[in-house]
Amino acid sequence: MSTLIKNGTIVTASDTYKADLLIEGEQITKIGKKLKDNADETIDAKGHYIIPGGIDVHTHLDMPFGGTVSNDDFDTGHKAAAFGGTTSHIDFCIQGKRQSFKKALEGWHKKADGKSGIDYGFHVAITDLNKKTMAELPQLPSMGVTSIKLFMAYKGALMVDDETLFRSMRIAADNGILTMVHAENGDVIDVLVNEALEAGNTDPIYHAKTRPAHAEAEATGRAVAMAGMANAPLYVVHMTCEGALEQLRLGQKKGWNVHGETCTQYFFMTEKDLAKPRFQGAKYVCSPPMRTKADQAALWEAVADGTLEAISTDHCVFKFKGQKDMGKGDFSKIPNGVPGIEDRMMILYSEGVRKKKISLNRWVELTATNPAKLFGLYPKKGTVAVGADADIVLWNPREKKTISAKKHHMNVDYNLYEGKTVTGVPAKVFSRGELIVDGKKWLGESGRGKFLERSKVNY
Ligand code: URP
Ligand code: ZN
Ligand code: ZN
Repeated sequence: MSTLIKNGTIVTASDTYKADLLIEGEQITKIGKKLKDNADETIDAKGHYIIPGGIDVHTHLDMPFGGTVSNDDFDTGHKAAAFGGTTSHIDFCIQGKRQSFKKALEGWHKKADGKSGIDYGFHVAITDLNKKTMAELPQLPSMGVTSIKLFMAYKGALMVDDETLFRSMRIAADNGILTMVHAENGDVIDVLVNEALEAGNTDPIYHAKTRPAHAEAEATGRAVAMAGMANAPLYVVHMTCEGALEQLRLGQKKGWNVHGETCTQYFFMTEKDLAKPRFQGAKYVCSPPMRTKADQAALWEAVADGTLEAISTDHCVFKFKGQKDMGKGDFSKIPNGVPGIEDRMMILYSEGVRKKKISLNRWVELTATNPAKLFGLYPKKGTVAVGADADIVLWNPREKKTISAKKHHMNVDYNLYEGKTVTGVPAKVFSRGELIVDGKKWLGESGRGKFLERSKVNY
């Protein structure tokens, strides 16, 4: 099967230019002016950008967490991603206690098998590093996994100690594996949460009050310092605040191999959203929490100046009715996580590119190219080039859409951006040459998405 896309404007991380593009099978095989029109199908992309499909390297589909399970699985989550212009993602496979990484990965593969609509990879989240799993860690790349994640928070659940983090980092570095951290000081947070509850402060706003920005800054600084000592590459996930950015910059100034992402929601929501009446604040409960307007400005600066290299979603959805409400009367029981996989590309285009916070090329770089480079997928994914997978989106920069939970494809009964009208939407989405979304129509088949075996980290 071949498809010729004519008259579009190709946008990569570095260039914007008008050209035709030929897809043959799963790949882009030609890019040029006035390509010969003898393909099986021809699409006129006049007035559209041709961008690489979005890559979201931070998602939690079908994940047991906070006494429940995140509500988007590899079926609904993948469709939602595709409708938003995202064609690949990397999900967190959580190691159970006393479980080998191999077994943990088998469990996550089962979740995706037969359901996947887009391509996906896994990071392994380490919760139990012992003699056996330490010996197993170097084998992860042979299982297609070249990144691990450690949680410095969620005491009594996912949190690991510094010894585990430092040992993991060193083994990872020796084996071409990237270490990721959720950086918040879990011990401090645990004290503050217990104090708040003892004082009768049970509303959702206390989720934010008990997870101060300093707890994130301190843990970020600690992880960065450990990465420096271990001579290991580090990727700090979901960074939210000025103090944490300062710590990352300190490491970067020393020439250490330390990288950071933020997530869409942190540019738009603040702590005040958690104070919304009638328990509505629970919809915004995630960790680290939403911060302040000043932190939002710092995040925009950090994505523009290169401190932050990627914008992901941390998509981890829990329904308001039936899941978030587990925390009525005790904010610590509200499952942590927010939706975003479908909205990321549109919100960042409409609010970021159109409002001149980031350039068009930087948008592509932050949402596709850098994630691909950092996580061993480039140049197969993350760019529009001959030889790359034909994961491409025809983006209509003028079409408007009002975001609403009634219409979105995410399996959750609310949307953080409810009622917001965005300008710029995906018109057609291709995954490995196959048209999977055409306007409002889903054309993909369940199970078509492939597991992404990623290359070792070599930066
Ligand atoms: O609140 C969040 N972020 N939930 C998902 C788990 C995590 O910490 O990334
Ligand atoms: Zn996290
Ligand atoms: Zn997460």
